[in-house]
Amino acid sequence: MNGITILGAGSYTPSLAVTNEMMTEFIDTSDEWISSRTGIKSRYMSPDKANYEMAAKAAKAALENAGKTAKDIDFIIVSTCSPDFFYPNMACLVQKQIGAEGCPCIDINSACTGFINSLDIARNYLATGDYKTILVVSSERLSPQIDFNDRGSCILFGDGAGAVVVEYGENKPYYSILGAEGDMFEALFCKANYKPNFPKFDGNEIFKELCDTPEKQCYLQMDGKAVYKFAVDAMASAVDKVLNKSGLTIEDIDLVIPHQANIRIIQSALKKMKVDDDKVFINLQDHGNTSSACIPVALSELMAQGRLKRGMKVCLVGFGAGLTYGACIFEY
Ligand code: ACO
Repeated sequence: MNGITILGAGSYTPSLAVTNEMMTEFIDTSDEWISSRTGIKSRYMSPDKANYEMAAKAAKAALENAGKTAKDIDFIIVSTCSPDFFYPNMACLVQKQIGAEGCPCIDINSACTGFINSLDIARNYLATGDYKTILVVSSERLSPQIDFNDRGSCILFGDGAGAVVVEYGENKPYYSILGAEGDMFEALFCKANYKPNFPKFDGNEIFKELCDTPEKQCYLQMDGKAVYKFAVDAMASAVDKVLNKSGLTIEDIDLVIPHQANIRIIQSALKKMKVDDDKVFINLQDHGNTSSACIPVALSELMAQGRLKRGMKVCLVGFGAGLTYGACIFEY
């Protein structure tokens, strides 16, 4: 069995904490509504750092935690659905910021499922033996994509970054289940805010029906109820499938780290999975939904709290725009 060893993790928390109370200053909402519907009390936003700078800060923290330097890294994978540039990719910008030289750099976008997909890609590259030490970073600056007039979505999201340094884990279990339902993409999307300097001809207006208002042309759009329903079923079913694949039961799992979207989604999915609450890590009350950064930020916090111990079996599970989903089980 070819598993992974997570050598270290790190995270970056942006400077501006935006509490539910602060949100009442610009939308018609309340701390009571947000807390009871989502579990979120506060989230961070990054008014002063670009996404790639946040990513690099998390990467440096992970390297330090792992006892490695940038020179040890021979592959960089960045997951983001909120890059600063169409190109170059964020991984190249992180490479420059941390001083890693020459290694391949790729970006992955599967929205909130991005970290699970990226870790899985890292695991497969490590299994080939072609690469020894891989840096996986998930960084999201969602705040520029948010319509702060839309009270149904703007309360959910935050900015943040997390990173891990991974190497091959000999004789360590690793199993994953990944999937997507592209036909549900309209439930959650954000159009690339790119206006081509292109002459108008009859019939060349694309996305005319999908993006029929200025808000839909540039901000995140979400059918909250559709995403909610998908998320509960997809997370429960992904965990069920990955357990079946591994031959393990939920009792064998020491820690479940779900995507931190909404406490009600997590609780409903956990009920279906029949997992004890005390095995589940939750930090969405402080960070909100930071998309693909949620899980590596959680890993970093768990390590800092001394709650992750070698030999523990960890299950990551998430969902996101696409709609995508994924779960993996590994030994820490
Ligand atoms: N404050 C006060 N009232 C609000 C707010 C708010 N912030 N937002 C909506 N409301 C109102 C609505 O206007 C509506 O009022 P009405 O009945 O008078 O029309 C009422 O509250 C109920 O609105 P719903 O949308 O039905 O509320 P719901 O219980 O479905 O909760 C929520 C909304 C929290 C968004 C929920 O649907 C949800 O969490 N969905 C999943 C979203 C999610 O996780 N998205 C992230 C996906 S991850 C990724 O890849 C980005």
